[in-house]
Amino acid sequence: MHHFRYVGPSLHCESVDLGAVAQLYGTPTYVYSAGTMADNYRRLAQGLEGLDVQICYAMKANSNIALLRHFANLGAGFDLVSGGEIRRVLAAGADVKRSVFAGVGKTEAEIKLALDNGIFAFHVESEPELARINHVAGKLGVKAPIAIRINPDVDAHTHAKITTGKSDNKFGIPLRNAGAAYEAAAKFPHIQIKGVQMHIGSQLTSVTPFVEAVQKVAPFVADLKARYGITYFSIGGGMGIVYKDALASGPAAWWDAQPVEQRPLTPEVYGAALTPLLKPLGLKILLEHGRFMVGNAGVLLSRVEHLKRGAGKNFLVVDAAMNDLVRPAMYEAFHEIVPLHRDTSRHALVADVVGPICESGDCFAKDRPLQEVGEGEYLALMSAGAYGYTMASRYNTRGMAAEVLVHGSTFELINARETFEQMIAGEKIPAFLK
Ligand code: LLP
Repeated sequence: MHHFRYVGPSLHCESVDLGAVAQLYGTPTYVYSAGTMADNYRRLAQGLEGLDVQICYAMKANSNIALLRHFANLGAGFDLVSGGEIRRVLAAGADVKRSVFAGVGKTEAEIKLALDNGIFAFHVESEPELARINHVAGKLGVKAPIAIRINPDVDAHTHAKITTGKSDNKFGIPLRNAGAAYEAAAKFPHIQIKGVQMHIGSQLTSVTPFVEAVQKVAPFVADLKARYGITYFSIGGGMGIVYKDALASGPAAWWDAQPVEQRPLTPEVYGAALTPLLKPLGLKILLEHGRFMVGNAGVLLSRVEHLKRGAGKNFLVVDAAMNDLVRPAMYEAFHEIVPLHRDTSRHALVADVVGPICESGDCFAKDRPLQEVGEGEYLALMSAGAYGYTMASRYNTRGMAAEVLVHGSTFELINARETFEQMIAGEKIPAFLK
């Protein structure tokens, strides 16, 4: 569910006409709905009501400091993966003390920064990392709180590039070796065992792999509680969102109309399936969802440059490109594309929607049926709130897009479009070339 819908012919985000946003700030521009994010946060929390839940928003999905502040105001902590992300939490005026630090290659400097700011826990991915954290904590004269990331070897049935909990993924420690890893952790003088973590993958549209993974590790988790007095179990993120019928899935009525067996995963179904499995553990439950929190809360606005009619193929050339939203090029991901001005009297068009970058992979959609649109008109790429801006690049010397946050009938620029001067600010011509 989300707050993007047509009001008359104009696509709105909450009560804001997106055409007006595109005119004011230009394109490509990401627009986010604060109301959708708040709804997502609350539905997730309510879905697991009855458990002691701490939501650590996985900020890799979208780390704009305005969004972080919004989630912190709602009560969230963060799942972060770098020193840069720690600094973003601080820049947002939020608390690192409710945040967990994941990732397979934390540097000594990053570990120190996390400890200095009172990180809730490190999610440890390997034995050498444990030794490194112990070493840094020792130098600071503190004990580092940790949880070990277990790789449960469960198939998440998602895209191969975003599966994380199979034995051939680089993440975590296999369940069969995890007991030994905890024994090793207990012997380190500057390590405090605090919890256990797992993450099986991203964009999961069924609750079954989550259930399978929790059932698989629950006996081990109970044993850790008995042995080491752990206080929390982080069950990761990964809840999927609707990409194919993105716009239609805004109102609750759409969900009610879907046959139950075809209905995409909701926080209510997720919570109902997992709460009875988790409750007996008597632990705090951490959730690290990223995509679910922001994915359907954002769109990427783009302007049509040309309609190029080729031999047997139409190309709709737009001003956004794979550098702005890489998901279609990288994962063959589907993003629905809709006009900001809907006109049902227009002809239908079937076209490849492509960006201006010099690569054939710079293509948002192939043979997509669309309303006919011409130069200067605007389109919205739906479900672009997660892994959109954060995965963007400057390829072809295209500056980073602008970002706007909508709240009811108001909106504000939360990230100005990057200028050419900002892009080359760190570059210089060496003396030997002058
Ligand atoms: N926690 C950990 C340890 C993770 O590795 C991830 C995502 C998350 C939480 C958040 O998962 P989510 O709730 O967003 O599914 N760039 C890809 C997604 C990569 C996800 C990697 N890990 C995409 O655009 O689909």
